[in-house]
Amino acid sequence: MTDRYTQLVNTGFTATLAKRLGLPQPALLRRYSPGAPLTPGPVLVLGPDTHDDSDSDAVAQHLAGLGLDIHRSPTTGSARWGAVILVLTEISRVEDLSEHVLAAGSVLRQMARGARLITVVREAQDEDAPALAAARQAVVGLTRSLAKELRGGATANGLVLAGGVAVGREGVLSPLRWFLSARSAFVDGQLLTVGQGAADVPAQDDEQPLAGRVAVVTGAARGIGASIARTLARDGAAIVCVDVPAAGEHLARVAGEVRGTALQLDITADDAGDRIIEHARARHGRLDIVVHNAGITRDKLLANMDPARWDSVLAVNTVAQLRINDALLASDLFADAPRIVSLASTSGIAGNRGQTNYGASKAGVIGMIRATSPLLADVSGTANAVAPGFIETEMTAKIPFATREVARRLNSLQQGGKPVDVAEAVAFLASPGAGAVSGQVLRVCGQNLVGA
Ligand code: NAI
Repeated sequence: MTDRYTQLVNTGFTATLAKRLGLPQPALLRRYSPGAPLTPGPVLVLGPDTHDDSDSDAVAQHLAGLGLDIHRSPTTGSARWGAVILVLTEISRVEDLSEHVLAAGSVLRQMARGARLITVVREAQDEDAPALAAARQAVVGLTRSLAKELRGGATANGLVLAGGVAVGREGVLSPLRWFLSARSAFVDGQLLTVGQGAADVPAQDDEQPLAGRVAVVTGAARGIGASIARTLARDGAAIVCVDVPAAGEHLARVAGEVRGTALQLDITADDAGDRIIEHARARHGRLDIVVHNAGITRDKLLANMDPARWDSVLAVNTVAQLRINDALLASDLFADAPRIVSLASTSGIAGNRGQTNYGASKAGVIGMIRATSPLLADVSGTANAVAPGFIETEMTAKIPFATREVARRLNSLQQGGKPVDVAEAVAFLASPGAGAVSGQVLRVCGQNLVGA
Protein backbone atom coordinates (compact mmCIF):
# COMPACT_ATOMS: atom_id res chain seq x y z
CA MET A 1 0.00 0.00 0.00
CA THR A 2 3.02 2.32 0.20
CA ASP A 3 4.55 3.72 -2.95
CA ARG A 4 8.26 3.51 -2.00
CA TYR A 5 9.32 4.82 -5.40
CA THR A 6 7.52 8.16 -4.91
CA GLN A 7 9.20 8.53 -1.51
CA LEU A 8 12.64 7.71 -2.98
CA VAL A 9 12.49 10.13 -5.92
CA ASN A 10 11.71 12.90 -3.49
CA THR A 11 14.78 12.37 -1.30
CA GLY A 12 18.41 13.39 -1.83
CA PHE A 13 20.62 11.21 -4.00
CA THR A 14 17.84 9.02 -5.44
CA ALA A 15 16.01 12.15 -6.61
CA THR A 16 19.07 13.25 -8.62
CA LEU A 17 19.59 9.75 -9.99
CA ALA A 18 15.97 9.44 -11.17
CA LYS A 19 16.27 12.80 -12.93
CA ARG A 20 19.53 11.78 -14.70
CA LEU A 21 18.02 8.48 -15.84
CA GLY A 22 14.87 10.19 -17.10
CA LEU A 23 12.66 8.08 -14.80
CA PRO A 24 9.16 9.21 -13.76
CA GLN A 25 9.31 11.83 -11.01
CA PRO A 26 6.02 11.75 -9.13
CA ALA A 27 5.74 14.69 -6.72
CA LEU A 28 4.54 14.48 -3.13
CA LEU A 29 1.01 15.82 -3.45
CA ARG A 30 -0.34 18.73 -1.43
CA ARG A 31 -3.05 17.21 0.76
CA TYR A 32 -5.45 18.78 3.27
CA SER A 33 -4.23 19.71 6.71
CA PRO A 34 -6.32 21.84 9.07
CA GLY A 35 -5.52 25.54 9.00
CA ALA A 36 -3.27 25.39 5.90
CA PRO A 37 -3.86 28.24 3.41
CA LEU A 38 -6.20 27.56 0.47
CA THR A 39 -3.38 27.97 -2.08
CA PRO A 40 0.40 27.53 -1.72
CA GLY A 41 1.12 31.05 -3.03
CA PRO A 42 -0.39 34.13 -4.73
CA VAL A 43 -3.23 33.70 -7.21
CA LEU A 44 -3.25 35.08 -10.76
CA VAL A 45 -6.76 35.73 -12.10
CA LEU A 46 -6.78 36.18 -15.88
CA GLY A 47 -9.58 36.80 -18.37
CA PRO A 48 -11.38 39.58 -20.23
CA ASP A 49 -11.60 42.63 -18.00
CA THR A 50 -13.15 45.19 -20.30
CA HIS A 51 -15.94 46.40 -18.00
CA ASP A 52 -16.33 47.07 -14.27
CA ASP A 53 -18.19 43.97 -13.19
CA SER A 54 -16.51 41.42 -15.44
CA ASP A 55 -16.60 37.74 -14.49
CA SER A 56 -12.86 37.75 -13.79
CA ASP A 57 -13.42 40.69 -11.39
CA ALA A 58 -16.10 38.73 -9.56
CA VAL A 59 -13.73 35.79 -9.05
CA ALA A 60 -10.83 38.06 -8.03
CA GLN A 61 -12.99 39.94 -5.51
CA HIS A 62 -14.32 36.77 -3.95
CA LEU A 63 -10.84 35.29 -3.49
CA ALA A 64 -9.41 38.59 -2.21
CA GLY A 65 -12.22 38.54 0.37
CA LEU A 66 -10.83 35.22 1.61
CA GLY A 67 -7.49 36.90 2.27
CA LEU A 68 -5.65 35.49 -0.77
CA ASP A 69 -2.98 37.58 -2.52
CA ILE A 70 -4.64 38.25 -5.89
CA HIS A 71 -2.91 39.54 -9.02
CA ARG A 72 -4.55 40.48 -12.33
CA SER A 73 -1.49 40.30 -14.59
CA PRO A 74 1.69 38.20 -14.67
CA THR A 75 4.38 39.88 -12.61
CA THR A 76 7.87 38.69 -11.88
CA GLY A 77 8.40 38.35 -8.17
CA SER A 78 10.05 35.91 -5.86
CA ALA A 79 6.86 34.12 -4.76
CA ARG A 80 5.80 31.11 -6.80
CA TRP A 81 2.21 31.16 -8.02
CA GLY A 82 -0.21 29.10 -5.94
CA ALA A 83 -2.88 29.16 -8.63
CA VAL A 84 -3.77 30.59 -12.02
CA ILE A 85 -7.46 31.02 -12.81
CA LEU A 86 -8.51 31.61 -16.40
CA VAL A 87 -12.01 33.11 -16.39
CA LEU A 88 -13.06 32.67 -20.01
CA THR A 89 -16.85 32.92 -19.66
CA GLU A 90 -16.95 36.13 -21.69
CA ILE A 91 -15.06 34.98 -24.76
CA SER A 92 -17.02 34.52 -27.97
CA ARG A 93 -14.36 33.58 -30.54
CA VAL A 94 -11.38 31.22 -30.59
CA GLU A 95 -9.25 34.25 -31.51
CA ASP A 96 -10.08 35.80 -28.09
CA LEU A 97 -8.30 33.01 -26.25
CA SER A 98 -4.66 33.64 -27.09
CA GLU A 99 -4.05 36.76 -24.98
CA HIS A 100 -5.25 35.10 -21.77
CA VAL A 101 -3.99 31.59 -22.44
CA LEU A 102 -0.49 32.79 -23.36
CA ALA A 103 -0.40 35.00 -20.25
CA ALA A 104 -1.08 31.86 -18.21
CA GLY A 105 1.63 30.04 -20.15
CA SER A 106 4.16 32.73 -19.27
CA VAL A 107 4.00 31.88 -15.55
CA LEU A 108 3.85 28.08 -15.70
CA ARG A 109 7.55 27.78 -14.89
CA GLN A 110 6.98 29.75 -11.69
CA MET A 111 4.23 27.59 -10.20
CA ALA A 112 4.48 26.38 -6.59
CA ARG A 113 4.42 22.67 -5.72
CA GLY A 114 0.81 21.51 -5.72
CA ALA A 115 -0.36 24.66 -7.54
CA ARG A 116 -3.69 24.76 -9.37
CA LEU A 117 -4.70 25.93 -12.81
CA ILE A 118 -8.45 26.35 -13.15
CA THR A 119 -10.44 27.35 -16.20
CA VAL A 120 -13.98 28.73 -16.01
CA VAL A 121 -16.06 28.70 -19.19
CA ARG A 122 -19.65 28.47 -20.37
CA GLU A 123 -21.06 25.21 -21.69
CA ALA A 124 -20.97 24.87 -25.49
CA GLN A 125 -24.52 24.19 -26.65
CA ASP A 126 -25.95 22.91 -29.90
CA GLU A 127 -27.91 26.13 -30.42
CA ASP A 128 -24.77 28.31 -30.01
CA ALA A 129 -23.32 30.00 -33.09
CA PRO A 130 -20.58 27.66 -34.36
CA ALA A 131 -17.81 30.18 -33.62
CA LEU A 132 -19.04 30.57 -30.02
CA ALA A 133 -19.37 26.81 -29.48
CA ALA A 134 -15.86 26.33 -30.88
CA ALA A 135 -14.39 28.87 -28.46
CA ARG A 136 -16.14 27.30 -25.47
CA GLN A 137 -15.26 23.73 -26.37
CA ALA A 138 -11.67 24.76 -27.08
CA VAL A 139 -11.27 25.58 -23.38
CA VAL A 140 -12.15 21.98 -22.49
CA GLY A 141 -9.36 20.68 -24.72
CA LEU A 142 -6.98 23.32 -23.39
CA THR A 143 -7.67 22.26 -19.79
CA ARG A 144 -7.14 18.57 -20.42
CA SER A 145 -3.92 19.14 -22.38
CA LEU A 146 -2.52 21.55 -19.83
CA ALA A 147 -3.15 19.01 -17.07
CA LYS A 148 -0.77 16.70 -18.92
CA GLU A 149 1.95 19.38 -19.05
CA LEU A 150 2.00 20.52 -15.42
CA ARG A 151 4.59 19.07 -13.04
CA GLY A 152 5.37 19.19 -9.34
CA GLY A 153 1.97 17.90 -8.24
CA ALA A 154 0.20 20.82 -9.92
CA THR A 155 -3.17 20.06 -11.53
CA ALA A 156 -5.49 21.66 -14.09
CA ASN A 157 -9.28 21.37 -13.84
CA GLY A 158 -12.23 23.36 -15.09
CA LEU A 159 -15.73 24.58 -14.29
CA VAL A 160 -18.26 24.59 -17.09
CA LEU A 161 -21.23 26.86 -16.36
CA ALA A 162 -24.66 26.10 -17.76
CA GLY A 163 -26.38 28.94 -19.64
CA GLY A 164 -27.35 31.90 -17.45
CA VAL A 165 -25.41 30.82 -14.34
CA ALA A 166 -23.64 33.90 -12.90
CA VAL A 167 -20.00 33.45 -11.94
CA GLY A 168 -20.39 35.25 -8.60
CA ARG A 169 -22.85 32.65 -7.19
CA GLU A 170 -21.88 30.39 -4.29
CA GLY A 171 -22.85 27.41 -6.47
CA VAL A 172 -19.88 28.33 -8.70
CA LEU A 173 -17.49 29.75 -6.10
CA SER A 174 -17.73 26.77 -3.75
CA PRO A 175 -16.57 24.22 -6.41
CA LEU A 176 -13.89 26.75 -7.43
CA ARG A 177 -12.59 26.85 -3.84
CA TRP A 178 -12.60 23.05 -3.73
CA PHE A 179 -10.52 22.76 -6.89
CA LEU A 180 -8.08 25.35 -5.47
CA SER A 181 -7.80 23.50 -2.18
CA ALA A 182 -5.53 20.62 -1.18
CA ARG A 183 -8.67 18.44 -1.00
CA SER A 184 -8.62 17.95 -4.78
CA ALA A 185 -5.01 16.59 -4.78
CA PHE A 186 -5.58 13.58 -7.09
CA VAL A 187 -8.24 15.18 -9.33
CA ASP A 188 -6.63 16.26 -12.59
CA GLY A 189 -7.84 17.13 -16.08
CA GLN A 190 -11.49 17.11 -14.96
CA LEU A 191 -14.33 19.46 -15.88
CA LEU A 192 -17.37 19.84 -13.65
CA THR A 193 -20.59 21.34 -14.95
CA VAL A 194 -22.39 23.78 -12.65
CA GLY A 195 -26.13 23.79 -13.33
CA GLN A 196 -29.01 26.22 -12.93
CA GLY A 197 -29.38 25.61 -9.19
CA ALA A 198 -26.25 27.73 -8.56
CA ALA A 199 -28.31 30.75 -7.51
CA ASP A 200 -29.90 28.86 -4.60
CA VAL A 201 -26.75 27.34 -3.12
CA PRO A 202 -26.20 28.66 0.42
CA ALA A 203 -22.83 29.99 1.64
CA GLN A 204 -20.99 27.33 3.61
CA ASP A 205 -18.27 27.04 6.23
CA ASP A 206 -15.60 25.12 4.30
CA GLU A 207 -14.12 23.67 7.53
CA GLN A 208 -17.42 22.15 8.72
CA PRO A 209 -19.68 22.03 5.64
CA LEU A 210 -21.57 18.95 6.83
CA ALA A 211 -22.36 20.11 10.38
CA GLY A 212 -25.82 18.88 11.41
CA ARG A 213 -26.07 16.41 8.51
CA VAL A 214 -26.41 12.62 8.84
CA ALA A 215 -24.56 10.41 6.35
CA VAL A 216 -24.74 6.69 5.61
CA VAL A 217 -21.60 5.07 4.18
CA THR A 218 -21.82 1.49 2.87
CA GLY A 219 -18.73 -0.71 2.92
CA ALA A 220 -17.36 1.45 5.74
CA ALA A 221 -15.40 -1.30 7.57
CA ARG A 222 -12.20 -0.76 5.59
CA GLY A 223 -10.45 0.78 2.57
CA ILE A 224 -12.01 3.71 0.79
CA GLY A 225 -15.28 3.40 2.76
CA ALA A 226 -13.52 3.81 6.13
CA SER A 227 -11.72 6.87 4.75
CA ILE A 228 -15.03 8.33 3.51
CA ALA A 229 -16.55 7.83 6.98
CA ARG A 230 -13.59 9.62 8.62
CA THR A 231 -13.62 12.50 6.10
CA LEU A 232 -17.37 13.11 6.33
CA ALA A 233 -17.07 13.05 10.14
CA ARG A 234 -14.15 15.51 9.97
CA ASP A 235 -16.43 17.80 7.93
CA GLY A 236 -19.08 17.67 10.67
CA ALA A 237 -21.50 14.88 9.68
CA ALA A 238 -22.84 12.16 12.00
CA ILE A 239 -22.08 8.82 10.35
CA VAL A 240 -23.98 5.53 9.99
CA CYS A 241 -21.35 2.92 9.05
CA VAL A 242 -22.77 -0.03 7.09
CA ASP A 243 -21.02 -3.31 6.24
CA VAL A 244 -21.66 -7.06 6.17
CA PRO A 245 -21.91 -8.91 9.53
CA ALA A 246 -18.64 -10.75 8.73
CA ALA A 247 -16.84 -7.39 8.89
CA GLY A 248 -18.57 -6.53 12.19
CA GLU A 249 -15.44 -6.08 14.29
CA HIS A 250 -13.76 -3.67 11.87
CA LEU A 251 -17.07 -1.90 11.34
CA ALA A 252 -17.50 -1.30 15.08
CA ARG A 253 -13.95 0.06 15.25
CA VAL A 254 -14.52 2.58 12.43
CA ALA A 255 -17.93 3.59 13.82
CA GLY A 256 -16.35 4.14 17.25
CA GLU A 257 -13.51 6.17 15.78
CA VAL A 258 -15.89 8.56 13.99
CA ARG A 259 -18.35 8.54 16.92
CA GLY A 260 -21.06 7.26 14.62
CA THR A 261 -23.27 4.19 14.70
CA ALA A 262 -22.73 0.78 13.08
CA LEU A 263 -25.36 -1.09 11.05
CA GLN A 264 -24.48 -4.67 10.10
CA LEU A 265 -26.26 -5.23 6.83
CA ASP A 266 -25.77 -6.99 3.52
CA ILE A 267 -26.83 -4.28 1.05
CA THR A 268 -28.22 -6.92 -1.33
CA ALA A 269 -30.97 -7.77 1.21
CA ASP A 270 -34.46 -6.99 -0.12
CA ASP A 271 -35.21 -4.66 2.78
CA ALA A 272 -31.76 -2.97 2.90
CA GLY A 273 -33.18 0.48 2.02
CA ASP A 274 -35.87 0.33 4.72
CA ARG A 275 -33.38 -0.87 7.32
CA ILE A 276 -31.02 2.01 6.54
CA ILE A 277 -33.88 4.53 6.78
CA GLU A 278 -35.19 3.07 10.05
CA HIS A 279 -31.73 2.96 11.62
CA ALA A 280 -31.06 6.60 10.66
CA ARG A 281 -34.51 7.66 11.96
CA ALA A 282 -34.20 5.80 15.26
CA ARG A 283 -30.55 6.64 16.06
CA HIS A 284 -30.05 10.05 14.44
CA GLY A 285 -33.52 11.48 13.66
CA ARG A 286 -32.61 12.40 10.07
CA LEU A 287 -30.88 11.22 6.89
CA ASP A 288 -29.21 13.58 4.43
CA ILE A 289 -26.39 11.81 2.61
CA VAL A 290 -26.05 8.26 1.29
CA VAL A 291 -22.67 7.12 -0.05
CA HIS A 292 -22.90 3.89 -2.04
CA ASN A 293 -19.32 2.72 -1.59
CA ALA A 294 -19.61 -1.05 -0.99
CA GLY A 295 -18.39 -2.87 -4.06
CA ILE A 296 -16.74 -6.13 -5.08
CA THR A 297 -14.61 -7.49 -7.93
CA ARG A 298 -14.72 -11.07 -9.26
CA ASP A 299 -12.37 -10.78 -12.26
CA LYS A 300 -12.37 -13.35 -15.11
CA LEU A 301 -12.22 -13.11 -18.88
CA LEU A 302 -15.77 -13.40 -20.19
CA ALA A 303 -14.86 -16.69 -21.90
CA ASN A 304 -14.23 -18.13 -18.41
CA MET A 305 -17.00 -16.28 -16.57
CA ASP A 306 -19.47 -18.27 -14.42
CA PRO A 307 -22.92 -17.11 -13.31
CA ALA A 308 -21.85 -16.66 -9.66
CA ARG A 309 -19.09 -14.19 -10.59
CA TRP A 310 -21.22 -12.24 -13.05
CA ASP A 311 -24.35 -12.08 -10.90
CA SER A 312 -22.70 -11.25 -7.57
CA VAL A 313 -20.82 -8.25 -8.98
CA LEU A 314 -23.93 -6.81 -10.63
CA ALA A 315 -26.00 -7.53 -7.50
CA VAL A 316 -23.68 -5.70 -5.07
CA ASN A 317 -22.36 -2.93 -7.31
CA THR A 318 -25.52 -1.91 -9.16
CA VAL A 319 -28.77 -3.65 -8.22
CA ALA A 320 -28.40 -3.02 -4.46
CA GLN A 321 -27.87 0.70 -5.08
CA LEU A 322 -30.93 0.90 -7.35
CA ARG A 323 -33.12 -0.80 -4.72
CA ILE A 324 -31.86 1.32 -1.84
CA ASN A 325 -32.39 4.48 -3.91
CA ASP A 326 -36.01 3.46 -4.60
CA ALA A 327 -36.60 3.30 -0.84
CA LEU A 328 -34.81 6.61 -0.25
CA LEU A 329 -36.79 8.43 -2.94
CA ALA A 330 -40.04 7.21 -1.39
CA SER A 331 -39.05 8.28 2.14
CA ASP A 332 -40.03 11.55 3.84
CA LEU A 333 -36.77 11.33 5.82
CA PHE A 334 -34.65 11.88 2.70
CA ALA A 335 -36.17 15.13 1.46
CA ASP A 336 -34.13 18.09 2.76
CA ALA A 337 -31.52 18.80 0.04
CA PRO A 338 -30.42 15.14 0.13
CA ARG A 339 -27.23 13.84 -1.48
CA ILE A 340 -26.52 10.51 -3.18
CA VAL A 341 -22.88 9.80 -4.05
CA SER A 342 -22.02 6.48 -5.75
CA LEU A 343 -18.63 4.91 -6.30
CA ALA A 344 -18.10 4.14 -9.98
CA SER A 345 -14.66 3.39 -11.45
CA THR A 346 -12.55 4.34 -14.45
CA SER A 347 -13.14 0.67 -15.48
CA GLY A 348 -16.78 1.68 -15.96
CA ILE A 349 -15.69 4.45 -18.34
CA ALA A 350 -12.74 3.00 -20.27
CA GLY A 351 -13.40 -0.73 -19.76
CA ASN A 352 -10.81 -3.16 -18.44
CA ARG A 353 -9.68 -6.61 -19.59
CA GLY A 354 -10.93 -9.32 -17.26
CA GLN A 355 -13.57 -7.01 -15.79
CA THR A 356 -16.63 -7.28 -18.04
CA ASN A 357 -18.81 -7.83 -14.96
CA TYR A 358 -17.19 -5.01 -12.96
CA GLY A 359 -17.03 -2.60 -15.94
CA ALA A 360 -20.70 -3.26 -16.69
CA SER A 361 -21.68 -2.76 -13.04
CA LYS A 362 -19.81 0.54 -12.72
CA ALA A 363 -21.07 1.88 -16.07
CA GLY A 364 -24.52 0.89 -14.79
CA VAL A 365 -23.91 3.09 -11.74
CA ILE A 366 -23.12 6.03 -14.02
CA GLY A 367 -26.34 5.51 -15.98
CA MET A 368 -28.28 5.21 -12.73
CA ILE A 369 -26.80 8.44 -11.35
CA ARG A 370 -27.65 10.45 -14.47
CA ALA A 371 -31.26 9.27 -14.36
CA THR A 372 -31.59 9.69 -10.58
CA SER A 373 -30.41 13.30 -10.57
CA PRO A 374 -33.63 14.83 -12.01
CA LEU A 375 -35.73 12.77 -9.57
CA LEU A 376 -34.14 14.66 -6.66
CA ALA A 377 -34.41 18.15 -8.17
CA ASP A 378 -37.76 18.93 -6.48
CA VAL A 379 -36.19 18.59 -3.03
CA SER A 380 -32.94 20.40 -4.01
CA GLY A 381 -31.16 17.06 -3.91
CA THR A 382 -28.26 15.87 -6.05
CA ALA A 383 -26.91 12.52 -7.26
CA ASN A 384 -23.34 12.15 -8.49
CA ALA A 385 -20.71 9.48 -9.04
CA VAL A 386 -17.04 9.44 -8.14
CA ALA A 387 -14.85 7.32 -10.43
CA PRO A 388 -11.54 6.41 -8.81
CA GLY A 389 -8.57 5.32 -10.91
CA PHE A 390 -5.63 3.51 -9.31
CA ILE A 391 -5.95 3.90 -5.54
CA GLU A 392 -3.44 2.44 -3.06
CA THR A 393 -5.61 -0.04 -1.10
CA GLU A 394 -5.48 -3.65 0.09
CA MET A 395 -7.21 -4.54 -3.19
CA THR A 396 -4.57 -2.94 -5.45
CA ALA A 397 -1.69 -4.14 -3.21
CA LYS A 398 -2.57 -7.68 -4.35
CA ILE A 399 -1.93 -6.88 -8.04
CA PRO A 400 1.36 -8.47 -9.23
CA PHE A 401 4.33 -6.04 -8.89
CA ALA A 402 5.01 -5.25 -12.57
CA THR A 403 1.33 -4.71 -13.47
CA ARG A 404 0.84 -2.59 -10.36
CA GLU A 405 3.88 -0.44 -11.09
CA VAL A 406 2.68 0.28 -14.65
CA ALA A 407 -0.90 0.95 -13.53
CA ARG A 408 0.06 3.43 -10.83
CA ARG A 409 2.42 5.46 -13.08
CA LEU A 410 0.06 5.75 -16.08
CA ASN A 411 -1.49 9.05 -15.12
CA SER A 412 -0.46 12.71 -15.23
CA LEU A 413 0.63 12.65 -11.57
CA GLN A 414 2.63 9.41 -12.09
CA GLN A 415 1.38 7.80 -8.86
CA GLY A 416 -1.60 6.07 -7.30
CA GLY A 417 -4.13 8.04 -5.28
CA LYS A 418 -4.90 7.49 -1.61
CA PRO A 419 -8.29 6.49 -0.20
CA VAL A 420 -8.56 9.98 1.31
CA ASP A 421 -8.39 11.50 -2.19
CA VAL A 422 -11.56 9.63 -3.12
CA ALA A 423 -13.11 10.53 0.24
CA GLU A 424 -12.43 14.24 -0.32
CA ALA A 425 -14.31 14.12 -3.65
CA VAL A 426 -17.24 12.34 -1.99
CA ALA A 427 -17.28 14.91 0.85
CA PHE A 428 -17.29 17.77 -1.67
CA LEU A 429 -20.21 16.32 -3.64
CA ALA A 430 -22.08 15.74 -0.35
CA SER A 431 -21.61 19.35 0.75
CA PRO A 432 -24.20 22.15 0.43
CA GLY A 433 -21.77 24.10 -1.79
CA ALA A 434 -21.99 21.39 -4.48
CA GLY A 435 -25.76 21.92 -4.70
CA ALA A 436 -25.57 22.91 -8.39
CA VAL A 437 -23.45 19.90 -9.37
CA SER A 438 -25.67 16.93 -10.18
CA GLY A 439 -25.85 13.92 -12.48
CA GLN A 440 -22.09 13.99 -13.01
CA VAL A 441 -19.09 11.71 -12.79
CA LEU A 442 -16.05 13.15 -11.03
CA ARG A 443 -12.94 11.12 -11.78
CA VAL A 444 -10.32 10.86 -9.05
CA CYS A 445 -7.60 9.29 -11.14
CA GLY A 446 -4.73 11.78 -11.55
CA GLN A 447 -5.89 12.02 -15.19
CA ASN A 448 -5.45 8.36 -15.98
CA LEU A 449 -3.93 8.12 -19.45
CA VAL A 450 -6.10 5.12 -20.30
CA GLY A 451 -9.70 5.76 -21.20
CA ALA A 452 -11.85 8.83 -21.75
P1 NAI B 1 -12.66 -2.99 -0.28
O1 NAI B 1 -12.87 -4.36 -0.81
O2 NAI B 1 -11.41 -2.70 0.49
O3 NAI B 1 -13.90 -2.60 0.66
C1 NAI B 1 -15.25 -2.80 0.27
C2 NAI B 1 -16.11 -2.91 1.50
O4 NAI B 1 -17.44 -3.18 1.04
C3 NAI B 1 -15.69 -4.07 2.41
O5 NAI B 1 -15.62 -3.65 3.76
C4 NAI B 1 -16.80 -5.09 2.19
O6 NAI B 1 -17.06 -5.91 3.33
C5 NAI B 1 -18.00 -4.18 1.86
N1 NAI B 1 -19.04 -4.92 1.15
C6 NAI B 1 -18.89 -5.78 0.10
N2 NAI B 1 -20.06 -6.34 -0.22
C7 NAI B 1 -20.98 -5.83 0.63
C8 NAI B 1 -22.38 -6.04 0.80
N3 NAI B 1 -23.06 -6.90 0.05
N4 NAI B 1 -23.01 -5.36 1.80
C9 NAI B 1 -22.33 -4.49 2.59
N5 NAI B 1 -21.01 -4.28 2.48
C10 NAI B 1 -20.33 -4.93 1.50
O7 NAI B 1 -12.82 -2.01 -1.53
P2 NAI B 1 -12.19 -0.55 -1.80
O8 NAI B 1 -10.94 -0.71 -2.56
O9 NAI B 1 -12.17 0.25 -0.55
O10 NAI B 1 -13.28 0.05 -2.81
C11 NAI B 1 -14.42 0.80 -2.40
C12 NAI B 1 -15.23 1.21 -3.61
O11 NAI B 1 -14.41 1.91 -4.54
C13 NAI B 1 -15.79 0.01 -4.37
O12 NAI B 1 -17.08 0.31 -4.87
C14 NAI B 1 -14.80 -0.15 -5.53
O13 NAI B 1 -15.39 -0.78 -6.62
C15 NAI B 1 -14.46 1.30 -5.81
N6 NAI B 1 -13.17 1.47 -6.51
C16 NAI B 1 -11.97 1.14 -5.92
C17 NAI B 1 -10.78 1.33 -6.59
C18 NAI B 1 -9.44 1.02 -5.99
O14 NAI B 1 -8.41 1.29 -6.64
N7 NAI B 1 -9.36 0.50 -4.78
C19 NAI B 1 -10.77 1.87 -7.97
C20 NAI B 1 -12.08 2.15 -8.50
C21 NAI B 1 -13.22 1.96 -7.77
